[in-house]
Amino acid sequence: MRIIFYHPQENPAVWIDGLRRRLPGADIRPWREGDSLPADYAVVWHPPHGMLAGRSGLKGVFVLGAGVDALMDQVRLHPDMLPESVPLLRLEDAGMAQQMVEYTVAAVLRYYRRLDEYDRQQSLGEWQELALPARDTFVVGVAGAGVLGGKVAMAVRGLGFPVRCWSRRTKPIPGVAGFAGEASLGAFLSGVQVLVNLLPNTPQTAGFLNIALFARLNRGAYIINIARGAHLIERDLLDAMARGHIAAATLDVCRQEPLPRDHPFWSAPRITLTPHIAATTLPPLAMDSIADNIRRIEAGQTPLGRVDRPNGY
Ligand code: NAP
Ligand code: GLV
Repeated sequence: MRIIFYHPQENPAVWIDGLRRRLPGADIRPWREGDSLPADYAVVWHPPHGMLAGRSGLKGVFVLGAGVDALMDQVRLHPDMLPESVPLLRLEDAGMAQQMVEYTVAAVLRYYRRLDEYDRQQSLGEWQELALPARDTFVVGVAGAGVLGGKVAMAVRGLGFPVRCWSRRTKPIPGVAGFAGEASLGAFLSGVQVLVNLLPNTPQTAGFLNIALFARLNRGAYIINIARGAHLIERDLLDAMARGHIAAATLDVCRQEPLPRDHPFWSAPRITLTPHIAATTLPPLAMDSIADNIRRIEAGQTPLGRVDRPNGY
């Protein structure tokens, strides 16, 4: 079995050694420009066109993340990178759900307990108690009830907040109100105090966080975007915040990363930025998951995390 590996930033030796330990006997090599020798599997993050082009015999392309939007964008431009017959597989959880839970719980509690406002008071030397919102009105809406969104919804529910989820198809989650499809988007958004975005970035969801959507949330709502920068119309967020319709936002992702130095988000008083770290790929767990999936494919079983190409996620 021949496996090619490419990641633009990571040291390939770490991944290749780890995969060799998990798949004894496999011939695993870092892909380099000009390498067109045969391969059965590719393990990639932001692969160059030349790595995958024309490799119609691949039994699987493994993306080293949960989101496959960057590769899908490349494939829309260069369909020869991924013939329909080649399975595209993404990481399902692989340690990311726990990280997303931690990040979201921290951000929701920070807004509920008004800690960001106390930070500002401290900077002004003010000592002033702020009223707590009633817990049963502090409705948290999670857009995207998938592998990550489902776990996040359950964790926030565990803190006692009313939680609802929105997905394409109905997904029952204990204690969480479920909404599915475009027709139910208005009902999902109405009354939401904190909107957490965990949708995949697809042609259908790009620009999801826009001025019309903000207007359907409670006045003074909070936005937590931990999915992709392409979901947010950035000017709309600044406008909605200037009008007080959105009180504050926590953004782990931006349209351009790193965020340019002159971007207005840096100085917006109630925007909190983190550098796309809400849930990172954890190499040992990612390697376990990829090796397990390769064994499944070799044994003729269905692999986990296969991307539905027409849906784009
Ligand atoms: P997933 O399991 O594929 O879940 C996606 C969810 O979104 C599903 O519930 C799906 O509905 C729903 N959905 C998709 N298109 C929709 C639409 N048009 N309308 C309504 N709902 C729609 O994905 P995941 O593993 O949870 O990951 C979600 C995203 O998180 C990734 O795509 C990635 O962009 C982002 N992410 C960010 C970081 C970070 O560090 N910031 C880290 C990891 C992942 P169905 O259930 O009906 O299919
Ligand atoms: C990170 O953003 C991922 O999609 O895994």
